[in-house]
Amino acid sequence: MRRAIYPGSFDPVTFGHIDMIERSARMVDELVVAVLNNSAKNPLFSVEERVSMLEGITSHVPNVKIRYFDGLLIDYAKEIEATIIIRGLRAVTDFEYELQIAQTNRIVNSEIDTIFLTTSLEYAYLSSTIVKEVASYGGDISHFVPKQLIPQIYEKYKG
Ligand code: PNS
Repeated sequence: MRRAIYPGSFDPVTFGHIDMIERSARMVDELVVAVLNNSAKNPLFSVEERVSMLEGITSHVPNVKIRYFDGLLIDYAKEIEATIIIRGLRAVTDFEYELQIAQTNRIVNSEIDTIFLTTSLEYAYLSSTIVKEVASYGGDISHFVPKQLIPQIYEKYKG
């Protein structure tokens, strides 16, 4: 069985992430979407909220499981017996950092490979940071995230 892991912060999940999940799920038997539980990053959404958002918006993809992890990605990948790490590349600027991480991970565990997918062009500009920036000013985020998540995101900036 070919199991891959698609890790990220998903704070919040965007159309870009959903595109990556749908495309990578087609390549493997099982895709584990792994949410980083890292309070040091001071996320807008708790890990439980991010897991629940992902569960809601990936329910149409049968071979996807949503999990969260603490600590090193490579250790978690081994723990769940994933042999592939999936990462998305939006632009050349993503590449340098991603290459360094992929090479580091491979030194630590050479049985796990990283596969990069290029982001679909329509989402190449998109990031969770952009969504938060626009939402914080009450701007329109309907081009960036599924509509069922919009109230939850605006809620964080109320008050
Ligand atoms: O969506 P993001 O924020 O780009 O995802 C980054 C993520 C979660 C993949 C990365 O920060 C990660 O793997 N963190 C866990 C710690 C780790 O393994 N770091 C890489 C080796 S130094």
